[in-house]
Amino acid sequence: MQKTQAAITAVGGYVPEYILTNAELETMMDTTDEWIQTRTGIKERRILKGEGKGSSDMAVKAVENLIAKRGIDPKEVELLICATTTPDMQFPATANIICDKAGLTSAWGYDVNAACCSFLYALTTASQFIENGKHKKIIVVGVDKMSSILNYEDRATSIIFGDGAGAVLLEPSTDSNGIVDTILRSDGSGRVHLHQKAGGSVKPASIETVMNKEHYVYQEGQAVFKFAVKNMADVSAEIMERNNLTGDDIAWLVPHQANKRIINATADRMNLPPEKVMMNIERFGNTTNGTLPLCLWEWEQRLHKGDNIILAAFGGGFTWGAAYIKWAYDTK
Ligand SMILES: CC(C)(COP(=O)(O)OP(=O)(O)OC[C@H]1O[C@@H](n2cnc3c(N)ncnc32)[C@H](O)[C@@H]1OP(=O)(O)O)[C@@H](O)C(=O)NCCC(=O)NCCS
Repeated sequence: MQKTQAAITAVGGYVPEYILTNAELETMMDTTDEWIQTRTGIKERRILKGEGKGSSDMAVKAVENLIAKRGIDPKEVELLICATTTPDMQFPATANIICDKAGLTSAWGYDVNAACCSFLYALTTASQFIENGKHKKIIVVGVDKMSSILNYEDRATSIIFGDGAGAVLLEPSTDSNGIVDTILRSDGSGRVHLHQKAGGSVKPASIETVMNKEHYVYQEGQAVFKFAVKNMADVSAEIMERNNLTGDDIAWLVPHQANKRIINATADRMNLPPEKVMMNIERFGNTTNGTLPLCLWEWEQRLHKGDNIILAAFGGGFTWGAAYIKWAYDTK
């Protein structure tokens, strides 16, 4: 009997309306459009505006988009996993808030935080519940409101990130399409290069931590860059090798959108031409856990049943990984 695999059967997405261009950043800090485009590939990013709006508000829109496209009742969803580094609150889990706001009243849910790799970690975790027969409909939503933890006086970090959300529905498949293989890795010693200094249990919020701007993203750009170039390419090559895939066999690479130069290095290592690489970094920047599902959302019409797709990501921690998916449906 054909083994049950978890297949992505619908994709949803949402990006906020407000566009923060490089030209606007030039008015806020000592930078140039030319520098940002050359070093990162980013032209503009979306920002969630509005008092009291958080990650869950974007995630709900992506989830509602997905549910409408698939034509299911929200009550059919049994589990929702939210991949995020910018939860609405320290607790409860943002997944619980999304389920409440989107009417997923039969679902249980929890958050996964592995920095920019959370979506890949969550997708892998979710697939286990399908493969072992525990659940039949699971939503994995990747969302981040990075603008909530960026210091717009720091030109080295604030130019990179944007806000957005993407969601996928996982269902059982027995026709050999679905999530075929995943590789996930982490190395906690890398935490010194990319983290948020205060607001956790080690250094709770205080007047001092606010004055010292310790609630923003802290990043040593070059160390992260070096790590990412090597490890995202290595893990992508590894998953191809162990599934006997060459560049010719791959229809699409879906890479984490952190820096155009990192994406190009990964594609080169996989022997993939640029036409096979999903890239929305020019328009959205690095949406952290939104990057992979937002790519799938934008490219959905061009995907075909049976396409070999590689997802690859890296993030703070350090965390990194790749997934090999055989796409499960044609879009009508
Ligand atoms: C952040 C990053 C774009 C910086 O690019 P870089 O080529 O490494 O640049 P450097 O940090 O070496 O800085 C080079 C110079 O540009 C300056 N600079 C930094 N940001 C700038 C900006 N926005 N505009 C203009 N100049 C800037 C630096 O101050 C430095 O000046 P100096 O030579 O006078 O000291 C790059 O390191 C990167 O993408 N790293 C990975 C980050 C990442 O992927 N994060 C997400 C993880 S999921």
